[in-house]
Amino acid sequence: MRVHVADHPLITHKLTVLRDKRTPSPVFRQLTEELITLLAYEATRNVRVEDIEIETPVTTTVGVRIGEPRPLVVPILRAGLGMLDGMVKLLPTAEVGFLGMARNEETLQPYTYAERLPEDLSDRQCFVLDPMLATGGSLGAAIDFLFARGAQDVTAICILAAPEGLAKIEEQVGDRDVTLVLGALDERLNEKGYIVPGLGDAGDRLYGTV
Ligand code: URA
Repeated sequence: MRVHVADHPLITHKLTVLRDKRTPSPVFRQLTEELITLLAYEATRNVRVEDIEIETPVTTTVGVRIGEPRPLVVPILRAGLGMLDGMVKLLPTAEVGFLGMARNEETLQPYTYAERLPEDLSDRQCFVLDPMLATGGSLGAAIDFLFARGAQDVTAICILAAPEGLAKIEEQVGDRDVTLVLGALDERLNEKGYIVPGLGDAGDRLYGTV
């Protein structure tokens, strides 16, 4: 598994404002979109392209376009939705599918409660959007789900990650082709499963439930 932790002052600046508990939801949403666009730049480094010939006003030249089959962007509901606009701005030809993951409070195991994805993902490059990699339960389940449908490779974009979640995903994916692109790797999880220092509940902050 490849892990890329962003190291750029613009990203750190935007993250600092996101972390600040005084930042209101509209600003939080706007910054999330901007941040994802920056992380998407790194995440799409290996997106498949094909050569095309075009004519400039001066001559004919060969360039590239995003190849077929189209990349698939998969936000994990609910908080991953806040990352979708920033991602498709950079990858407008991508197809978008949705995965709703939740945790069974008795078994503590993640399960899929909603799914809108192509049945066959053979040969597809998948980009999963999940802002907070905390325990790794839902992201791990989403990655398994996509590979079970035949995905060729999976890149996950997370705003923040805890070392505990990162270790779990690393162990779970084995030698499958997975890349994680992180805005920052934080210190730890607290006893309630929140990332520390973190930014609180990403879904609540995006959608104004606090
Ligand atoms: N999910 C969140 O939204 N925040 C955390 O800190 C952990 C999981």
